[in-house]
Amino acid sequence: MASEFKLAPSILSADFADLQSALTQCEKGGAQWIHVDVMDNQFVPNLTIGPPVVKSLRPLTEKYMDVHMMVIGPEKLVKPFAKAGADGITFHIEATEKPQEVIDLIRSTGKDVGLSLKPKTSVRDIEPYLDKIDLVLVMSVEPGLGGQEYIDGSTERVAEIKQLLTEKELRDKVQIEVDGGIKLHNAKEVIDAGADVLVAGSAVFGTEDPAKTIQDFYNLAN
Ligand code: DX5
Ligand code: ZN
Repeated sequence: MASEFKLAPSILSADFADLQSALTQCEKGGAQWIHVDVMDNQFVPNLTIGPPVVKSLRPLTEKYMDVHMMVIGPEKLVKPFAKAGADGITFHIEATEKPQEVIDLIRSTGKDVGLSLKPKTSVRDIEPYLDKIDLVLVMSVEPGLGGQEYIDGSTERVAEIKQLLTEKELRDKVQIEVDGGIKLHNAKEVIDAGADVLVAGSAVFGTEDPAKTIQDFYNLAN
């Protein structure tokens, strides 16, 4: 494993009128990361969070702020999110013709570089960039909405990426994050396949006691 297991609750499934409580629940449950889903209504059919929200959340938590950009033309948003206080910035391989330039731009801000791929995108498409990034974000649903079903076959893709990283001697350098449809009942198989970070939106914020659910994920992982 590249690193200790981490849970990244996605605030997309939290109450947008009370994100402060969502952060408090994450603190209480002991989640290390906060996953922020950025959607532009072009790359995906939904419109969500921009840099001003990240800026407002930044003073409220010391957690690692994991920004997942589902936007066309990600290069325009890299500096604004870096300035707003993101710790890691992830973009989609499908959203740009110049992935290397986006990687270099994120790198120049000093933030961690994440590269994501949609469920139907070949793992081979991200292969040339594996030695240039810090994280691969494997989508296990079509991006755009919380609360969807985990797509069967995603676990095999995680294992495939882990295998590729191992072959390239990058397993200790690049983390694997899995996003979409993660629940308590399928988390273990995804971790066993190679996930270092699991995103969970509805599974956390759709429950009565999000902090307890976060702890349940950790109990299951360890
Ligand atoms: C979907 C987002 C996910 C979403 C996951 O496009 O990238 O991060 O919040 O939500 P759940 O865990 O409910 O599938
Ligand atoms: Zn996400």
